[in-house]
Amino acid sequence: MANYAKDSAGIVRAARAGDYKVGIILGSGLGSLATEIDDAVRIPYAQLAGFPVSSVTAHASELVAGMLEGVPVVILSGRAHYYESGNPSIMRTPMETLKELGCEIIVATNAAGSLREQIAPGSAMLINDHINWSGLNPLIGEEDESRFLDMSKAYDPALREQIKAAAKQEGIELPEGVYMWFSGPSFETPAEIRMSQVLGADAVGMSTVPEVILARFLGMRVAAFSTITNMGAGLQAHDLSHDETKEMAPKGAAKIKAILKTFLRNLDK
Ligand code: HPA
Repeated sequence: MANYAKDSAGIVRAARAGDYKVGIILGSGLGSLATEIDDAVRIPYAQLAGFPVSSVTAHASELVAGMLEGVPVVILSGRAHYYESGNPSIMRTPMETLKELGCEIIVATNAAGSLREQIAPGSAMLINDHINWSGLNPLIGEEDESRFLDMSKAYDPALREQIKAAAKQEGIELPEGVYMWFSGPSFETPAEIRMSQVLGADAVGMSTVPEVILARFLGMRVAAFSTITNMGAGLQAHDLSHDETKEMAPKGAAKIKAILKTFLRNLDK
């Protein structure tokens, strides 16, 4: 494990001692969850060795450690995306830091475009699998056999059951689906969206997949959500924009927040 992660974990522990259980990565529109942490310390990524500072508006760049619903959590408020640097391993140190801090579970969130009429903008979607069509992988260059990582149950089946139970408890509809990673930063073309539908994707987006691969590589269990901000290109009457992503993301995000809090409250402490 790189020393950057040990150094960063040391900085977090110096600010707030303890072991943590759940690491949460907040994508567009989810940032407000970081304001609900009790007994919180906030550390800008710029102060953490090896942490990337995201240039995407709607992404803060700070780590927040504290308690959420009685569970010790570390929140990555803002992520760096492949399209910002061309580096698929850009989130490696943050993920290693979560592991170093004791996190056993990672919850990743993102904003995504829907490929299914039944999963309308404003919905929350639970990711049950992904398609990595990019040809990129954060493990390229790993030298030992651990690089041949099993991805059969990347989105932990037991966690998904617990999350679905939490959604039911909250009375929130939570469709499940396959997330397909595109590098971005341009949105997909209508032809790419039709291709994605044929390939079995339910939503498309520009993040999460590299972090999920890294989390599994590090032995952490993963759950992931999308807040659906739009229909994929060509499936809605108007063109796509980042403004729409920012405007719509909080709708599904409110659902994800409610489900996540109930999931944490129900978690074995
Ligand atoms: N495509 C890719 N990423 C996205 C989209 C989309 O339609 N919406 C929000 N993030």
